[in-house]
Amino acid sequence: MSALWAVIPAAGRGLRSARRAPKQFCTLHGRRLLDWSVEALFSAVELRACAIALPEEYFSGHGMAHDTRPDIRYCAGGTTRADSVAAGLNALDAAPADWVLVHDAARPCVPREDIQRLVAGVRETGVGALLAQPLADTLKRGDRAGRVQATLERASLWRAQTPQMFRIDALRRALARALDEGVGVTDEAAAMERAGHPVQLIEGSAANLKVTYPEDFALAEFWLRRQGRVASSDAPAARSGAGS
Ligand code: CTP
Ligand code: MG
Repeated sequence: MSALWAVIPAAGRGLRSARRAPKQFCTLHGRRLLDWSVEALFSAVELRACAIALPEEYFSGHGMAHDTRPDIRYCAGGTTRADSVAAGLNALDAAPADWVLVHDAARPCVPREDIQRLVAGVRETGVGALLAQPLADTLKRGDRAGRVQATLERASLWRAQTPQMFRIDALRRALARALDEGVGVTDEAAAMERAGHPVQLIEGSAANLKVTYPEDFALAEFWLRRQGRVASSDAPAARSGAGS
């Protein structure tokens, strides 16, 4: 069976979260978001190694790259998420047909069962996939004046989550092509679709929120506690800046 690897893009600035430090280094129940995300992956499936793409100054300046386990490789990320994922893929000495899970550092509450369902689905069919949720809200298209132009058919619409799982060489090529062509892809599936690969949707859950806005930190803490991942002795959340 081909080996499974992981890449965690953690090189963003977290501008919408309005914290002093990038959100992935802020704490939830006393641990950094990034560490919760790493733990979620390693506790769900057997990984050969995980590459973490960091902001340049964290990679070179904060000593994080030296504070490492043998199954974690650090690298510097890039300007866009796709650049950071491409850098992470290059940090892994994987065989071309191996599989890789790409998971946002900003999704610390991904349930273990969701990851296992994704991996089992891909192993069974051999087709790359992503976790996603069917849309619950009615969708409107608006004009510039804030008037409704149309109500969109939502039956076939899904919200993309991560992890997303693809063959490593196919993903490297698809991302390189999108980057070369200057096409913005906001997830791996978009790059794979553009390159003509089939991609399957595997249903995920609401717990797998992407911490984006200030109010999302409290929501993520709620889910972590509900998942039984927080020991009663764990420190309460730090409300400002980075923690470690
Ligand atoms: N990411 C990355 N490299 C970038 C941009 C984003 O590795 N150049 C990562 C983020 O660290 C995050 C994931 O991609 O784990 C999803 O991105 P997003 O939620 O948009 O995070 P940020 O870009 O950091 O936040 P914002 O857009 O609010 O600035
Ligand atoms: Mg962003």
